[in-house]
Formats: sequence, C-alpha cells, structure tokens
Amino acid sequence: MTRILVVGGGSIGQRHMKNFLAQGCEVEGVEPKEDVRNEVIKEIGIPVHEDLHKALEGDFVAAVIGTPARFHIECALECAKKGLHILCEKPLCLDFEEVHPKEDAAQQKLRTQREQKNLKDLFKLIEEKKLVAMIGYMNRHSEPVKKIKELIEQKVVGDPVAFHSENSHSANLMHLGHPPDSWFIGHKEMGGDTMLEDSHGINLLLHIGGGIESVMCMTGKVTDITTTSNDNAELILKFKNGVYGTAHTDLFCNQSRAHFLVRCTEGTILWDRQGDNDVVVMRVDEGKVKHEKVHSMKEKRDQWFINEEKLFLECIQQGKLPPLEYNLRSGYETMKVIMAASLSNKEGRTVKVDEIFSPY
Ligand SMILES: NC(=O)c1ccc[n+]([C@@H]2O[C@H](COP(=O)([O-])OP(=O)(O)OC[C@H]3O[C@@H](n4cnc5c(N)ncnc54)[C@H](O)[C@@H]3O)[C@@H](O)[C@H]2O)c1
Repeated sequence: MTRILVVGGGSIGQRHMKNFLAQGCEVEGVEPKEDVRNEVIKEIGIPVHEDLHKALEGDFVAAVIGTPARFHIECALECAKKGLHILCEKPLCLDFEEVHPKEDAAQQKLRTQREQKNLKDLFKLIEEKKLVAMIGYMNRHSEPVKKIKELIEQKVVGDPVAFHSENSHSANLMHLGHPPDSWFIGHKEMGGDTMLEDSHGINLLLHIGGGIESVMCMTGKVTDITTTSNDNAELILKFKNGVYGTAHTDLFCNQSRAHFLVRCTEGTILWDRQGDNDVVVMRVDEGKVKHEKVHSMKEKRDQWFINEEKLFLECIQQGKLPPLEYNLRSGYETMKVIMAASLSNKEGRTVKVDEIFSPY
C-alpha cells in the first residue's frame, strides 16, 4: 500500500487526503494548527502530526504539499531530501522579487537568494533521486482542456490568433466566507496575490498557447478586500509563435467568473468554466453566427484532482516520470510568467520571460 504524507490540513489538504484514501493509499497528515488537526482527525480519521520534521521519521513513499505557497518549496525540499516523491499544490513558489510588508531591501535580497537556492536544490534532488515531482494544476487533467487542445490541433476553426483567460473570484466568498485576513489569501508574504491564486489561467495559456516570450502587466491593490495582497492584474502576453494573448485575474468580484477563450482564423473556442463547463465553438455559417456545443461537461471538478492523483500514483508504482506538462518544472514555467508580469508592473516596460531566474 502506498504511504502518503499530506502536508497542510486545510481545504486542499483535506481534499487530497480523502481522495488518496479512496484510491487505497495509507494517508497521514501534517498540520501545525491544533483546531485544524483535530478537525482532520475527527472528520477524516487519520493520524495527523504537528511537525513535518517529526512526521518524516515515518516511512512514507510520497508527499503532497498543500500548505500556503510561502512554505511550498521548504516543505518539498525537506521531503525530497528523504527521497519522497512530490505532488506540490500550485503555485510552486512565491514571486521572489516581491517586497513583503515589514521587509527592507536588504532582507528582501537575502530572502530572494535563499528561496532561489532552495529551488535549485529541489530540482537537483529531483533529478539525482529520480523522483516523481508533479505540480497541482488540475485543470490540465480535465476533459474540457483536453478537448480544447484537440480542437486546436484539428484546426476545427482554423489557426489560433489570440488567447484570453479570465479568473475573477471574491476573496470574501472563498473558504466558506472566512474573512481574507484569517487565512493566507489576505497576506502577500504568505502567497496571497491574485496572480498566484488564479495562476490556473496563466498555466492554461502556457499549456494551450505554447511558450510565452514577453509580458506587459499592471497589477496592484485596487480595493480594500485584503490587507496586503494585490487584488487585480491585467496582463498582455506575446507567445513564442507570435500570437498575442491577455489574462485578467482579480480577488474582488462577487460574481465569480472564469473562462478561457481562443480566437482562431475561422471562429472562436470558448470554455466557460463558471457556467456549465461546456466547450463551445462559435463560427459564422451562411451569414449567421452558430454556437456548437462540442463538449458537454459531465465530469465533476473533483475528478480533475483524481485524474492528477491517479497519474501521480501510476508514475510512482510503475517507476516512470510524469509527462513534461504535469511535472514540477512546468509549475515553475508558470511562475516565470508571473514574475515577469510583476517586474513589468514595477518597471513599466515589457519584460522577456527569459530575463527571469531559472533554477535548472
Ligand atoms: N489546485 C487547486 O485548485 C487548489 C485549490 C485550493 C487551494 N490550492 C492551493 O493549495 C494551497 C493551500 O490552500 P488551502 O486553500 O488549502 O489553504 P488553507 O489555509 O485552507 O490550508 C493550508 C493549511 O496549511 C497549514 N500550514 C501552514 N504552514 C504549514 C507547514 N509549514 N506545514 C504544514 N502545514 C502548514 C495551515 O495551518 C493551514 O491549515 C495554496 O497554495 C492554494 O493555492 C489549490
């Protein structure tokens, strides 16, 4: 039986715990907060450790990292040192270059250096120990995304000429209405940032549109919904194949909205992620705009997590590495676009993604 340690017993941690148990794994957790620890013990009925270091004395095969992003790399590194395979939740890390509240320039520089070194060490260990290392962008494991890729490859409405992604959510409405300040989303230094929270959109743009060459961005805090997290971002992207794209993310929209749109030479492909999750193709036929539902969404969102977890287990059990689009590096490629966007915002210029630090 595969023994899995889930680090972080909050919302996503509990989802992974339940799913891996249902897939026949033996699961234990790590959670520093006593009330959350007790909740997991009561609701899920598994052992939960207070401290990762102590928990790693057990003989686990793999770890799932479900802490706030601020701790992803240090927890993953500690697990990788013990030879554990890793499934790390998104986003892979923080934006190193962001100055955190209560930090001066010298402290920020030291933190950036430490975080970059940790990231380098992590990728080195993954390679040396041949670890299965995946990032938790579960949309990539979904039927609609597979369908969009297929429609583009088959040139159903010609060639793509523009990509657009929108992710609007209210930080007030997430987490069953717990105020943003009471969890990481409200705090920049913990990973609370609209681009990090909704990095799914940027991750999809890379997955479907291909490599991104450069970014222009404006991002900041435009409402008082959080204490320090940026709550709005507008990005303009140039893809390596010359096509353009845009992305919007925010944390203040009370009417949740998420969609992904590909404009092609002969029509448009739309995945409305907030509605009924259908993939729709729009084209002009005999002078009229026709909407054709090409994928009716039957899968529940939880299935995308299960697909991701199944692949993780299959790779571990069969001793194979995950396809590139699901591995940890693809998680860092998403972070490079986000870091390029922050730099663009800071310096008021177009930033090439290649300017951003690479740990491999
Ligand atoms: N893939 C997805 O769709 C998806 C969905 C939700 C969350 N997430 C990601 O998962 C991560 C966690 O989100 P969440 O909503 O579960 O947050 P959460 O606040 O509900 O849970 C995080 C838990 O981690 C615990 N924690 C903090 N530091 C820790 C440490 N060093 N070791 C162990 N536990 C620690 C906290 O006490 C908290 O209970 C975030 O990065 C988030 O972006 C991804």
